[in-house]
Amino acid sequence: MNLKYEVITEDQINLCRDLCNELMDFQKSKAHITPELFDSMNFETRMIPSVKSAIHNYIVIVKDDEEIVGYVYSNVSPKKAYSNNFATFFDLSSVGKDNVGCLSQFYLKDGYRKYGIGSVLFNMSMEWLNQFTDVEDYFIYVSNGNTDALEFYTRKGFTVSHDILDGFITVLRKKQNCKSSTSCQHN
Ligand SMILES: CC(C)(COP(=O)(O)OP(=O)(O)OC[C@H]1O[C@@H](n2cnc3c(N)ncnc32)[C@H](O)[C@@H]1OP(=O)(O)O)[C@@H](O)C(=O)NCCC(=O)NCCS
Repeated sequence: MNLKYEVITEDQINLCRDLCNELMDFQKSKAHITPELFDSMNFETRMIPSVKSAIHNYIVIVKDDEEIVGYVYSNVSPKKAYSNNFATFFDLSSVGKDNVGCLSQFYLKDGYRKYGIGSVLFNMSMEWLNQFTDVEDYFIYVSNGNTDALEFYTRKGFTVSHDILDGFITVLRKKQNCKSSTSCQHN
């Protein structure tokens, strides 16, 4: 493997199209609760709108030579965006600040998993989120049946909070790392 990690701009998100669509297929294949909800989810309906509505976006792709083999997409968005026609993702009153951080999409092609690549991308995403001192709450939404991902995130310090949409999605959350013990009152 000749891996390269590249932060891309919003103008380059088309580079994630195929992998984003693969991620939706992967999640559908794992799901046992309403897998058909994934039928309308793809790069156009999920990634483009999300990137457009977020306040800040961070996308990293991984290349093996010239082939793109994985990506992670994180953002900072207004917490209000998480209560919409589709679902209320979390109790808005449980978040003190206006904006929240989210590790939104994460995918490595089969054959590139369990080599530590996901850990590198995860750490880059958390470091990026940590720069926003006014964002205290981070969320990850895992669709049902993806126990490997749930375990990955809990080992990285996220906690299972609750299920939504009758168990279709499990919500994980974490507080921003405290920079100093004296100012840390929210953990
Ligand atoms: C979830 C995902 C991004 C994680 O990335 P990953 O590269 O597989 O994860 P890592 O290799 O960094 O870590 C996974 C485990 O493998 C272990 N591992 C790392 N290198 C290893 C190696 N060479 N041999 C064996 N195990 C290894 C890690 O220690 C880690 O275990 P730990 O958390 O107990 O330390 C990736 O598996 C994936 O894309 N899965 C499919 C899509 C998906 O589920 N996306 C998430 C949607 S919410």
